Amino acid sequence: MNRLAGKVAMITGAGRGIGAAIALAFAREGAAVALAELDLDTANATAERIASEVSGARAMAVKTDVTQSASVVEALKQTEATFGPLDVLVNNAGINVFCDPLTMTDEDWKRCFSVDLDGVWNGCCAVLPGMVGRGRGSIVNIASTHAFKIIPGCFPYPVAKHGVIGLTRALGIEYSPNNVRVNAIAPGYIEMQLTLDWWDSQADPKAARQATLDLQPMKRIGQPQEVAMTAVFLASDEALFINASCITVDGGRSALYHD
Ligand SMILES: NC(=O)c1ccc[n+]([C@@H]2O[C@H](COP(=O)([O-])OP(=O)(O)OC[C@H]3O[C@@H](n4cnc5c(N)ncnc54)[C@H](O)[C@@H]3O)[C@@H](O)[C@H]2O)c1
Repeated sequence: MNRLAGKVAMITGAGRGIGAAIALAFAREGAAVALAELDLDTANATAERIASEVSGARAMAVKTDVTQSASVVEALKQTEATFGPLDVLVNNAGINVFCDPLTMTDEDWKRCFSVDLDGVWNGCCAVLPGMVGRGRGSIVNIASTHAFKIIPGCFPYPVAKHGVIGLTRALGIEYSPNNVRVNAIAPGYIEMQLTLDWWDSQADPKAARQATLDLQPMKRIGQPQEVAMTAVFLASDEALFINASCITVDGGRSALYHD
C-alpha cells in the first residue's frame, strides 16, 4: 500500500479496461489520478467507482482526445490545477485497427496511428517540459506483444505498437539525464468486455473460450489488474533504475515457439 503516495498521475483512456484498472490501482497505492478519456461518461463512472472503493481517493475525469495535442495539454493543465505537478503519465489509450495491408484504406491507417502512436507522442510532448524542468517523472506507455510479434491480418496495429517501443526507448535515453524515466508494458491477451462478448456470440461459447485458453501457456488470459500492478511498479520509486525498457505481461505466450 501507498507505493505511489504523494504522486500525481494522469492516465489516458482510463474510462474502462486496462486504463480503468490502472487508475484504480494507482489510487489504491495513494496517487491522485486524472482519468483523461474521450468518453467522459465512462471516465466519470470510473472516477466515482474509485471514490467509493478507495477511502480518501483523489480522482477526477477529464475529457481528452489524445489525437489532439491541444486537448492533452488542456487535460494536463486541469490535472495540475487540481492536484499539483504531474509525476506520472500513463499513455494507455489505444484502439485495435486490424486490416489486410493491401485492402486497408488510408483512413484506417490514419485512425490507427492517430491514437496508437501520435496519441502516445502527444502525451509525452505535453508532460515532458514540466518533468524535465522538475528533474523527475515517469512515463509508462502501454504497448502490446504486437510490438514484437506479428499476427497476419492485424495490420497496421503492430506497426504503431512497434513505434511505441521505439518512442519509449528514444525518449527514455533523451531524458535520462533529467531523471525522467520512460518505459513500456507489452500486455498479451487481456480480458476485456469485447472478449467476453465475442465468446458469448459464438455457437458454442464454452468451446470458443477453451480454444482461446488452450493457446496460452498458463491456460488462461490475463486480467487488467495484472497489467495495472506492473504499471504501479514502473511508476513507483521501486523502479528508479528501470528506463527505456519494456515489461511483457503475457503469461509467457510470446516466448512460446509452437502453438
Ligand atoms: N486488451 C488487450 O488484450 C490488450 C493487449 C495488448 C495491448 N493492449 C493495449 O492496452 C491499452 C488499453 O486497451 P483496452 O483493452 O483496455 O481497451 P479498451 O477499448 O477497453 O479501452 C480503451 C480506452 O481508450 C479510450 N480512447 C480511445 N480513443 C481515445 C482517444 N482518442 N483519446 C482518449 N481516449 C481514447 C476509449 O474510450 C477506452 O475507454 C491499449 O493501448 C491497447 O492497445 C490491450
